[in-house]
Amino acid sequence: MTRQTILILDFGSQYTQLIARRVRENKVFSKIIPYNTPAKELAALSPKGLILSGSPASVTKKKSPEPDKGIFKLGVPILGICYGMQVIAEMLGGKVKHTKEREYGKAELFIDDNRDLFSHLPGNFTCWVSHGDYVKKAPGGFMVSAHTLNTPIAAIANKKRKIFAVQFHPEVTHTEKGNQIIGNFLFKICGCLGRWTMQSFIKETIESIKKTVGRRDKVVLGLSGGVDSAVSAILIHRSIGRNLRCIFIDNGLLRRDEPQQIKKIFRNIYHLNLSYVDRGKRFLPRLKGVTDPEEKRKIIGSEFVKVFEEEAAKVKGVKYLAQGTLYPDVIESLSPTGAPSSRIKSHHNVGGLPSHMKLKLVEPLRELFKDEVRQIAKELNLPDAIIYRQPFPGPGLAIRIIGEITVERLNLLREVDRRVIDEIINAELYEKVWQSFAILLPIKSVGVMGDERSYENVVALRCVESIDGMTADWVKLPYEVLEKIANRLINEVKGVNRVVYDISSKPPATIEWE
Ligand code: XMP
Repeated sequence: MTRQTILILDFGSQYTQLIARRVRENKVFSKIIPYNTPAKELAALSPKGLILSGSPASVTKKKSPEPDKGIFKLGVPILGICYGMQVIAEMLGGKVKHTKEREYGKAELFIDDNRDLFSHLPGNFTCWVSHGDYVKKAPGGFMVSAHTLNTPIAAIANKKRKIFAVQFHPEVTHTEKGNQIIGNFLFKICGCLGRWTMQSFIKETIESIKKTVGRRDKVVLGLSGGVDSAVSAILIHRSIGRNLRCIFIDNGLLRRDEPQQIKKIFRNIYHLNLSYVDRGKRFLPRLKGVTDPEEKRKIIGSEFVKVFEEEAAKVKGVKYLAQGTLYPDVIESLSPTGAPSSRIKSHHNVGGLPSHMKLKLVEPLRELFKDEVRQIAKELNLPDAIIYRQPFPGPGLAIRIIGEITVERLNLLREVDRRVIDEIINAELYEKVWQSFAILLPIKSVGVMGDERSYENVVALRCVESIDGMTADWVKLPYEVLEKIANRLINEVKGVNRVVYDISSKPPATIEWE
């Protein structure tokens, strides 16, 4: 059976991914594509419906982004959201005006036609708006189906052509009944069945890997301990068994107990064909005397690639490289405002490995969002320690030791880190925050221990909330939790006599210190 798909034309809204997720929460597969994809290409994907996203652009300006006109002739239902509504109105003969007073926040929506998109809804409810332009005149053939006090035309509909549009954002949780509206579009208007579940994804993926990878072909995969590589490994293992070779590289910069934990889970419980490659002795000498953060990253990154290549080359008949790439990394987004994102840190990931080995890629998660990967991990019975593991950077503890990395400092930070994690778990915060960790500073401070003067290390705590790591806020940890952590670190970890808390947000600070 072919998969029912809703295509989301991305005009650069900050909510585009949210729309995609809301559709999928209704068990309908959705895909984000550039707004100017030719109608022919869209038709080739046999979508059940199209959604036009919002945008920071304005249709009242010249050269504003427009979809291919042909989309209105495909006979596929269309839902325009915010800018999506304005661009529909403008292209089909309505009028859009700019207002100086941007409308932003909550507004009361009054439904003028409670059928189709607005069926099974109360007469009025709160919705979330964010716009500077508004539709002054609906295009011919369209009726006005909702209004707010400030916006007489807050939704329009052409039922015959199955084109619907709303000025507000049903995908945002501040819009009451937003999910009902999206559901109405999917089920009532597009005729979707809602059969796309994580179980169906697992089944389809295992089948498709079986078909792609030949019976004698071998696949290599870098296991990191994070949920993405873990789920990828298990799915591929279920398809091709021991023809998948997982490579776990211990770079000597991991946290306490991590290598043992990985070996136990993946070898003993999941019976993966796992090579545990202990190379701390190779990484650490290369980092001797290095204090510059970028240099640390480069050394670790290039050494990692070399070790991985050596290990992969040992696998006879290797043809594929598996990666845990996720959907947000592959969405081909055109930025209608043209703003390029700047590179702040050279992140080293398992991405783009052995290019000269000419391996083909297997990326079972490339259509999924992180929360969907976690749902799959649950279906696969992975332990919570893996499913909810906080992000841990590729260069490991090296970028949390400011200054030179030595075995002693690594061991000291490992003891600190273990206690920080334990206390955050005890406070039931581990899964609520994005990251919580410690940084070992290159300064010493004076203290008193008993009757004696001490001159020891300072540790900084960092605990942040974030949606995707791009921006972050420091967490207002309860004083009791801070106190407990500080007491434990100073009393239990030899070499620490002072603890400070990092209260910087990102931007302008970053999450990691290096
Ligand atoms: P920054 O420090 O740039 O970090 O605010 C954003 C997020 O990315 C993680 N991070 C990394 N992840 N390789 C990774 O896989 C890296 O080199 C790396 N550096 C930072 C960081 O922990 C945070 O979640």
